[in-house]
Amino acid sequence: MVVSYKDLGLVNSREMFKKAMAGKYAVPAYNFNNMEQLQAIIGGCAESNSPVIIQVSSGARKYANQTLLRYMAEGAVQMCRHDLKSNIPIVLHLDHGDTFELCKSCVDTGFSSVMIDGSHHPYEKNIEVTKQVVEYAHAHDVTVEGELGVLAGIEDEVSAEHHTYTDPNQVVDFVKRTGVDSLAISIGTSHGAYKFRLKPGESVPPLRFDILAEIEKKIPGFPIVLHGASSVVQEYVAMINKFGGKMDNAVGVPEEQLRRAAQSAVCKINIDSDGRLVVTAIIRKVFAEQPGEFDPRKYLGPAREELKKLIIAKNTNVLGSAGKA
Ligand code: G3H
Ligand code: 13P
Ligand code: ZN
Repeated sequence: MVVSYKDLGLVNSREMFKKAMAGKYAVPAYNFNNMEQLQAIIGGCAESNSPVIIQVSSGARKYANQTLLRYMAEGAVQMCRHDLKSNIPIVLHLDHGDTFELCKSCVDTGFSSVMIDGSHHPYEKNIEVTKQVVEYAHAHDVTVEGELGVLAGIEDEVSAEHHTYTDPNQVVDFVKRTGVDSLAISIGTSHGAYKFRLKPGESVPPLRFDILAEIEKKIPGFPIVLHGASSVVQEYVAMINKFGGKMDNAVGVPEEQLRRAAQSAVCKINIDSDGRLVVTAIIRKVFAEQPGEFDPRKYLGPAREELKKLIIAKNTNVLGSAGKA
């Protein structure tokens, strides 16, 4: 049975990005795999009155079951409207879709936005698969994110050893020929908690804002997406290490750089790793301090509360999306 996102109370990303572009902020895109993450994301965005994109990777679909995830998203909208009394716009987005079939299946089961990540393909093949997804998705009024350029690190099941920065000379052709609604670019961010290999005393290199500026010149007013945008908040890395974890040299994108990006044509900022760090840090802390505890609510509950706090702080201090719903 084909389900339309419109019947689930979701919206596509079109209006959201228009407002973000005009208002010089970015919409947060948070990944979720389980109930506590989803509660924290919706709770934090409702409380800070921020538009939100909740996103599901193909790994999340495998982990949590695709049918269950879809109903969880539907339930989250209902919880938001009825229990939290909030009308924030919510997009349900497929993160790093790698085939037409996966994107189609998401469109057919109530997603309001999909990413087709053809960045690992040769250019013409990327155009071909992206265009195919756009044609199907647009027929259902679902918005599509494409990607040009390859991030270093692990992109879902696609891995890239080194950055291939987005070539500004390709963006006009790519956007025109595919019809995508937004474009993920590579300007120095990467996925995961180890974004930069720094020697002692070295600081994080700046993102390639020069490439971003060139892209903006080529496609003025076109929504840009930044993947791999966790800051790897050091407070939580330290907590993980203090309570028995081992995350040496974990480092992310400094918040000032993300603030700067959010004021540009970057309309969507993807954050997954920071949420993972918070949850891990709190669970480790509870286990270390209360070794007799065995009720999952007693460690997942505090982790959820801390994640909600992080989300409110991100929306307010980094993305600028708080109060913009
Ligand atoms: O970009 C990748 C996201 O962080 C999702 O990661 O494939 O482990 O769910 P995952
Ligand atoms: P982080 O690993 O930096 O959180 O990036 C997440 C992401 O880009 C999801 O698509
Ligand atoms: Zn990503």
